[in-house]
Amino acid sequence: MSALENKNILLIVSGGIAAYKSLDLVRLIRKQGGVVRCILTSGGARFITPLSLSALSAQPVYTDLWSLKDETEMGHIRLSREADLVVIAPASASLMAKMACGLADDLASTALLATDKPVMFAPAMNPMMWANPATQDNLRILQKRGLIQIGPGTGDMACGETGEGRMAEPEDICDSIIRFFENRGRLTGLKALVTSGPTFEPIDPVRFIGNRSSGKQGHAIAVALRDFGAAVTLVTGPVALPDPAGIKTIHVETAAAMMAACTSAMPADIAVCAAAVSDWSAAHISRTKIKKSADRKPPVLALQENPDVLATLSKKGKNRPLLVIGFAAETGNLLAAAAEKRERKGCNWIVANHVDDEQKVFGADQNHVFLITAEGSEEWPPAPKTEIARKLAQHIAEHMSHVQKRTRNNNRRTAA
Ligand code: CTP
Repeated sequence: MSALENKNILLIVSGGIAAYKSLDLVRLIRKQGGVVRCILTSGGARFITPLSLSALSAQPVYTDLWSLKDETEMGHIRLSREADLVVIAPASASLMAKMACGLADDLASTALLATDKPVMFAPAMNPMMWANPATQDNLRILQKRGLIQIGPGTGDMACGETGEGRMAEPEDICDSIIRFFENRGRLTGLKALVTSGPTFEPIDPVRFIGNRSSGKQGHAIAVALRDFGAAVTLVTGPVALPDPAGIKTIHVETAAAMMAACTSAMPADIAVCAAAVSDWSAAHISRTKIKKSADRKPPVLALQENPDVLATLSKKGKNRPLLVIGFAAETGNLLAAAAEKRERKGCNWIVANHVDDEQKVFGADQNHVFLITAEGSEEWPPAPKTEIARKLAQHIAEHMSHVQKRTRNNNRRTAA
């Protein structure tokens, strides 16, 4: 069976000289068995014609939001919903800006606003336009929303300049599409638990012990595991992020509540503890607001140790997830501290990162991590947290397929 058999792809071609490469992309997707429907923006139609796209896709091409015929036959809502994946190639600076703002003033931007499907985009523009802070800000917004970015590459541009902004080659875009569909089912049938965000440990009715975790990395991991097909439960401390679609999200405040929620989410096949759980909580929570004393001496706060979710889930037993992954945010010797933490907590892997400059990590959209396993450590280049999450999901899927193969072989041997 071809890699894209039975897959419906909505290809949006926006304005840019790279639009001519989209014709090749259509051909490549069809060669893999995929069905391509195209939306051509008015900018895109300056570079290629609807006729060439429809001839190559063997489908009508959609160009106009207000075409009564298209709207009755195939409205923009249906067009975007019937696809399994939306691909924008080339994605112009203008279309990226429209997406970032949620503008819907033509068929392409309206379909993008109306879609509930994953969106992949291949930016293509002049290097100065790409480097412009406006485009870079828009890019960060799209990355944060979990859109899948392909390229751009660096090289000679049609405008005569050289730099970053060249659209990825059609072969690379087609490979990414194939990989997307391959990944989608890789964790199907498996249950994953993810913890995310900080915990807030109350001191009195108004004060608490908390930390700077934004939950962005943990939430992105939950989304990536969902996209790989796992049934995900997300246990999150207080964050300013929306609950991700298609994920059972449980909100907690304290480490004790996180522990209880995680215990009741067991059994699971995979557990990823990305939450920044407070190590301590107040030994006594005052029922009334603690007031300044007459001698103005600061109150002494007695602390008690919190349950360790990661260490508890990692304990040997029949309910232990097959793969338990922890996080380590460290100052100083990162690799040594993270390796020690992996041993001490009994988890399989640790994702470690430096927090020497907390401004660069907490709340940021980028992360620079090392994956520490029993075999050693590997450095991952700095990347958006959504990208780190996808890469981790890929490693998890590979590991789980080895584990499942081993279990099947053992079962076969026992049966024989
Ligand atoms: N963790 C947890 N429950 C806790 C504390 C930590 O599940 N009560 C998990 C975090 O989610 C993370 C990992 O443990 O995956 C590392 O947390 P960290 O606070 O760095 O570990 P500690 O044991 O507190 O180590 P340290 O001595 O460095 O504070």
